[in-house]
Amino acid sequence: MKLHFINSFCYNPLSGSGSHVKDRITIQAPATVANMVCGFDVLGFAVNDPYDEMSICFTGKPGITIINEDEYNLPTDPERNVAGAALLAMLEETAGDIGFELRICKHIKPGSGVGSSAASSAGAVVAANWLLNNPFTNEDLVRFAMNGEKLASGVKHADNIAPCIYGGVTLIRSIFPLDIIQLTAPPLYVTIVHPQIEVRTSDARGILKQQVLLKDAIRQWGNIAGLVAGLLKSDYELIGRSLEDVLIEPVRSILIPGFDKIKQLSKEAGALGGGISGSGPSIFMLSKDEETAKAVEQQMHSVYERLSLDHHTYITTINQQGVKLIV
Ligand code: HSE
Repeated sequence: MKLHFINSFCYNPLSGSGSHVKDRITIQAPATVANMVCGFDVLGFAVNDPYDEMSICFTGKPGITIINEDEYNLPTDPERNVAGAALLAMLEETAGDIGFELRICKHIKPGSGVGSSAASSAGAVVAANWLLNNPFTNEDLVRFAMNGEKLASGVKHADNIAPCIYGGVTLIRSIFPLDIIQLTAPPLYVTIVHPQIEVRTSDARGILKQQVLLKDAIRQWGNIAGLVAGLLKSDYELIGRSLEDVLIEPVRSILIPGFDKIKQLSKEAGALGGGISGSGPSIFMLSKDEETAKAVEQQMHSVYERLSLDHHTYITTINQQGVKLIV
């Protein structure tokens, strides 16, 4: 499916202001893998495939009109749509009676665990910012887009939003106040399997324990620090050792059929490691090279074929650009 918006009328209140203005902005917003196993709510990275497509223009009347051009039948009421919630937050800080028409063509299935709601929220505000001639910083855009995440999962978190906007691997040291650190990483191949079941982020958060044992916390922060160090030093072995989650995965993995088997077989096939993508049900594995990523994909297929479970797989790489301007 492709966006088809070419002939619709666009009004541009910035025309005639003397600055270079575009009447319509079209973008691609990448899928993201949040948590990166041990970094619950603080680490995430963007991938090159899949991505959503969106286009935005001014309408000439205040408010937001949402038009869905995909099969998902998501709400078009801006207060009930994650992209709408993000744009409403942005409009609160925008001078003038501005209105947008947003067309959304999602390719990232909602509830898949690869940042579908973040792609919508982040893509919408980045596109709107370009249309407005960039009055807002990336940090502002993360702040607006987190309103979409709040609508989707009940809480603000930025571990999908930040990598979607900035690209690459991001560390969100804090969200109040926002403190986002872009991390370098060595080349990595990402294999993702999406079993065709839906896990709502709000449900996957609701089952988590609110308290942790000190010994588990020590192990977890050792892993987070090890993962960050491994990424910065391009130390694949350290990255692999640090991809361990003793807090969240033991609770959430029961929601994902075949999880333990996929993890075991992927590592035997040479993956550095991996785990639940975001709140699931997708599972991701990192590999050093494409051949290993393909061998991992075969193992994922074999597990879900044995379980007769429909699934999609992706072999992709880390997206360094974030939301991309198309026209
Ligand atoms: N950090 C969030 C969670 C990501 O795991 O609930 C949701 O995609």
